[in-house]
Amino acid sequence: MDEVTRRQVSDAQLASVLHNLDPDRDRPADVIVAEHLSVGFAGQSVLRDVSVALPRGTVTAIIGPTGSGKSTFLRTLNRMNDRVRGFERQGDVHLDGESIWSPGQDLLAVRRRVGMLFQRPNPFPMSIRDNVVAGVRAHGIARGKQLDVVAEMRLREVGLWDAVKDRLHGSPYRLSGGQQQLLCLARALAVGPEVLLLDEPTSALDPLSTEAVESLFRTLTPALTLLVVTHNLGQARRLSDATMLFYDGQLAEHGSTAQVFEQPRDARTARYVQGLVG
Ligand SMILES: Nc1ncnc2c1ncn2[C@@H]1O[C@H](COP(=O)(O)OP(=O)(O)OP(=O)(O)O)[C@@H](O)[C@H]1O
Ligand SMILES: [Mg+2]
Repeated sequence: MDEVTRRQVSDAQLASVLHNLDPDRDRPADVIVAEHLSVGFAGQSVLRDVSVALPRGTVTAIIGPTGSGKSTFLRTLNRMNDRVRGFERQGDVHLDGESIWSPGQDLLAVRRRVGMLFQRPNPFPMSIRDNVVAGVRAHGIARGKQLDVVAEMRLREVGLWDAVKDRLHGSPYRLSGGQQQLLCLARALAVGPEVLLLDEPTSALDPLSTEAVESLFRTLTPALTLLVVTHNLGQARRLSDATMLFYDGQLAEHGSTAQVFEQPRDARTARYVQGLVG
């Protein structure tokens, strides 16, 4: 075998090994695809005919006036509305190419793959350490001493380890609001989600905590896909690759964040991003 052929073979082998190591191999480029999704509650329409594809490994901001359906859209993506009284749906949502409501999909598995962080930190009434590993334990991902390893790893990942390492068995409610939100983020990350839904995740935090949480979000891609609902237009611009604007239950605009803010196609978007409505 001459030098060139040998080199070509080893490149091909390398490509094959890399392919096998890539957890995203054979997965669609768009992790979430909503197709003509309409949602209502007891006959009242809330979302109308939303179609959108979210590329894997990106950050999408969701903006729009209050009551425009942002939270409803987010909550639908991990089936949190399923059990809400009067919930009605038309259309579909695909996760890695499969409907989240297909008979083979288990609700817990969907929630594990699509995690969520809310506006107000909501630690469980248990120790700091047990909060981090609550999902890991429930899903049987790790047990015994492994749980301590997972707890430390995730607390380090969110930058909370030094602040809590001496009170892992203490109450989470004595942490500051920002620290509690980081703890909830550690808990969400611990089960290894593909997608993280964030509903106004920093609106209850002071500017310094907001900065800490925001800069952490940026480190989570491209391993994760993030969807962030925010009323903070500066945050949307700083954080996101793409922006969706909801208006009265409809997806009024969706494009790269630069396009949506600098060259909006929809007149309602133009008014909204200039701060004239909302
Ligand atoms: N469980 C429910 N039952 C009935 N109506 C609901 C329910 N959840 C949401 N809605 C209605 O859907 C509409 C959209 O609400 P949603 O919470 O999605 O808005 P939003 O864009 O997140 O607003 P905000 O910016 O204030 O958080 C509102 O009119 C709301 O009253
Ligand atoms: Mg909301």
